[in-house]
Amino acid sequence: MVEEINKVGLVGLGTMGAGIDEGFARAGFTFTGVEIDDAALERGRTHLEKSLAKAVAKGKLTEDEQRAILGRVTFTTSRDDLADAHLAVEAVPERLDIKRSVFADLDRILPPAAILATNTSSLSVTEIAALTSRPGKVIGLHFFNPAPVMRLVEIVTTVVTEPHVRETATQVVTRLGKTPVAVGDRAGFVANALLVPYLNHAVAVYEQGLATREQIDAAITSAAGFPMGPLTLMDLVGLDVLLDVMDVLWDEFRRPRYAAAPLLRRMVAAGLLGRKSGRGFYDYSGADNPAEPEPTAPLAQLVGDGPGQISLADLLLVPHLNDAARMIGDGYATADDVDTAMRLGCGYPKGLAAMLDERGVKNVTETLAELAAAGLFTDDTAPLLTMLAKQGKDTLRS
Ligand code: CAA
Repeated sequence: MVEEINKVGLVGLGTMGAGIDEGFARAGFTFTGVEIDDAALERGRTHLEKSLAKAVAKGKLTEDEQRAILGRVTFTTSRDDLADAHLAVEAVPERLDIKRSVFADLDRILPPAAILATNTSSLSVTEIAALTSRPGKVIGLHFFNPAPVMRLVEIVTTVVTEPHVRETATQVVTRLGKTPVAVGDRAGFVANALLVPYLNHAVAVYEQGLATREQIDAAITSAAGFPMGPLTLMDLVGLDVLLDVMDVLWDEFRRPRYAAAPLLRRMVAAGLLGRKSGRGFYDYSGADNPAEPEPTAPLAQLVGDGPGQISLADLLLVPHLNDAARMIGDGYATADDVDTAMRLGCGYPKGLAAMLDERGVKNVTETLAELAAAGLFTDDTAPLLTMLAKQGKDTLRS
């Protein structure tokens, strides 16, 4: 059993890995970053060096600290260099064939007591664990983008994870200055299972011509105070990553809410992946964003735009609150866990359970019924909400 984790390896220095490495190095771990070839390795190294230089320029890190951090970091293209690591974190592309090769190597190379962690957001941790000879020592450490900033890490345990592995992982996450939330191995875990269908719904609203991309983003930032509108956030995370999450949610739950919007699938097929490819819903290639056409079926025509009418923000948010109630009703997560996950993983000013309680169960169920009557909500009201409404209770925590 590994008593203390000091030497950490990270395989994959892409969008997520390149943010995760900085956290480990800054928290005092001896750290080895592994990439597939020299070019990718160089990108990872440059990313870390630039980020540290920025922190020094902002006065958030001294030059001595910067030197000490860089002194603890090694970059390599050989997984064999992880032979004495206590913990390896994998952040490679979300394909089982790639994970299979990485975990076969990690299992062979690292000492038998070492912990193997995956940052997967769309594959089953249990299936990944089963690829190794030490399934009890495999765990999910699910970080959020941008990894240096978002404070949540979901700690995903499977039915065979050894209790001390979970405790050790929790200590590591705390040492990184992050907040751990323990979750079971279910599609999307807590945060993505709630966030991603809401993002996908925003795509469907856009695709149906109910609003422009700017109107959708502004509705959410101004009405709900979320730090980013859904389409801007999708461009940050990567449309391919989000489509993968939608597809596993669909496989596991088979509800209309989890069917990927056709436009999302087409954009991914066309290589419009967001910031990382230079274009997603917006253009990041330096060209001006092309002017948006007017919506072809503005929401106001369907539901009116006077006082008391359904707003664009309600259309996007109220089904999101319903998803949270469903998850809590399923017993997968508590209202507190849902709220911590959404505040610290996605920067929401308040958690979804808190927002739901503020609006009230009656208001939420009535709005869902109005949306359904307008053909804008095709899923069911969460059984927990229906039950609370019947009991005359207006909050989840009542
Ligand atoms: N990398 C490193 N640091 C970054 C960064 C990045 N990509 N983006 C922003 N920052 C830092 C800035 O440098 C700044 O740091 P200082 O305070 O030290 O100056 C700080 O974050 C705040 O940045 P800004 O003032 O530029 O911008 P902001 O206040 O608007 O915050 C944000 C930016 C933190 C990204 C915020 O918009 C936010 O919280 N957005 C929501 C992000 C989110 O939902 N993430 C989860 C996505 S889902 C996921 O990742 C899981 C999955 O599996 C798909």
